Parts: sequence; C-alpha cells; structure tokens
Amino acid sequence: MSRRPVNPSRRIADNGSAPFANSLHQKSRSSPLLSVGLVVVGALLLIGYSYSHSGGFGGNIEAVSKMEGDYSCTSEVQRAIPMLSKAYGDSMHKVLHVGPDTCSVISKLLKEEDTEAWGVEPYDLEDPDSTCKSLVRKGIVRVADIKFSLPYRAKSFSLVIVSDALDYLSPRYLNKTLPDLARMAVDGLVIFAGYPGQQRAKGAELSKFGRPAKLRSSSWWIRYFVQTGLEENETAIKKFEQAAAKRSYKPSCQVFHLSAYR
Ligand SMILES: *[C@@H]1O[C@H](CO)[C@@H](O)[C@H](O)[C@H]1NC(C)=O
Ligand SMILES: *[C@@H]1O[C@H](CO)[C@@H](O)[C@H](O)[C@H]1NC(C)=O
Repeated sequence: MSRRPVNPSRRIADNGSAPFANSLHQKSRSSPLLSVGLVVVGALLLIGYSYSHSGGFGGNIEAVSKMEGDYSCTSEVQRAIPMLSKAYGDSMHKVLHVGPDTCSVISKLLKEEDTEAWGVEPYDLEDPDSTCKSLVRKGIVRVADIKFSLPYRAKSFSLVIVSDALDYLSPRYLNKTLPDLARMAVDGLVIFAGYPGQQRAKGAELSKFGRPAKLRSSSWWIRYFVQTGLEENETAIKKFEQAAAKRSYKPSCQVFHLSAYR
C-alpha cells in the first residue's frame, strides 16, 4: 500500500496579520505621511488576507469567522463539500456526518442536489438554533456518545464523514469507534483531523470536550489505519486533490480518504 505525502500544515493566519500589527506599532515614531502609508499598506494586507481566507469560493464568511483563533475541522468540512462532491460523485447521495456543530454541516449538505444527510453530534448541543432543533426533532441529527456503537445498521450510508471527533479519543476508544464508523459506510470514510501544533481555544475545548485534543501526525494516523485494517482510497485522494487544485483550495485540516470494509 502506498503512502501519500504529508500535506504541510498551512497557517495563513500567522503570516497574514503580522505585518499589519507591526505597522501600527511603528506609527507613533514615524512621520505622518509615512504612517498614513503604513496604515494603507496594512489595510491592503488585511484585505488580501481576508480574501485569501475566503478562498474564492463564494466567500464563506460564516466558516471563516468560526476558524479565527480556533481551527475547526467541522467548518473545513463545509468548505470542502464541492471537492467531496467531485471526489465521490454519486456516493454523496446518503451521507452521515459525525462531529461537533453537525447541524451546520447537515444544513449545508441538504442544499446539495440528490443528497440526503444525517448527523451525529458527539457532545451536547449548545444553544441549538431553530433549524438545528428541527433537525433533531425529525431524527436527522442525534446526540450520541461515539465511544459506543452508533445505532445504525451496517452499510447504512454511502459516505461517512468525521470531523473534530476522533482527535478527542484515546487509542483505547479509537479502537472501537473507528471500525464502528467504517462499518456503517458503503463507499468510504472521510476523516478530517487537526494538524499537530494547531492551536485550539483551550477553555472552550475543556468545557465542551472534557479534554484537550490530541492532534496526531499524518504518519501516526496512516499507521493507525493500517493496524485497524482500513486502507486509503487512492482514487478518492487523487480526485479530491485535483478538485482542490482547480479551486486553489487548501484544507487547514488533514483529510484522509479511507475505503469501506469489503
Ligand atoms: C488498539 O488496536 C491495536 C491494533 O489492533 C493494538 O495494537 C493496540 O494495542 C490497541 N490499543 C489499545 C489501547 O487497546
Ligand atoms: C474509492 O473512491 C471512489 C470515489 O472516488 C469510489 O467510487 C470507490 O468505490 C472507492 N473505492 C473503494 C475500494 O472504496
């Protein structure tokens, strides 16, 4: 089985904002004209930064604002939907998403043509809005502890997508949860995981997840998948990367495409 090269972690936010902050500090000591110039340069950088962040796909403001100061792979799933559609085509017709803030992903998926979607929220829903409440009422979204087997039959979904959920499990629980997620999929399992070193909002994280995320490297995950008997789907990887390159999309999370069990 071949390994795919490690995607370098991309931290646009760090590079984009620093020059602007600098120019503000220098302002008091330089001539008025120079400082005006610096502010203009700073403003331009800021505009460029927000533009590059919206990635040119219809300016996904909502996802961007969620990502600031907190790398959420769930908002990354929303940004990746067009690429996932290209990579999986018809296999997007019956999707299960597992991860925090699943209502937002499900709402977005349901807007796609020929897509049915269900969601599992692994932690308590915090202040669900009316759309989310309605999804829960209809049984489309449910709250369930993913440390235990989920109440769906084997091969219930064409595609299972997981974000920000496995990072919080120790290997002991991963050993049960990962095969359980794979069990429900017919065509594939897509995992969005944080890059090691990515900062997450510590306080919010502890209150919501009870423990900080354990962000693992790509090689750790790939070794783990092999141990668990899961194989990466090279076709899906290639199609996803082609679609991403076309749209200059750079995921800020690791994305793994796994084949379902035979
Ligand atoms: C998880 O499963 C792997 C492979 O089956 C095994 O090597 C490892 O010891 C297990 N880890 C725990 C904590 O049970
Ligand atoms: C790999 O992904 C493609 C979609 O890109 C899918 O059609 C195919 O069935 C998958 N293969 C396996 C072995 O899961």
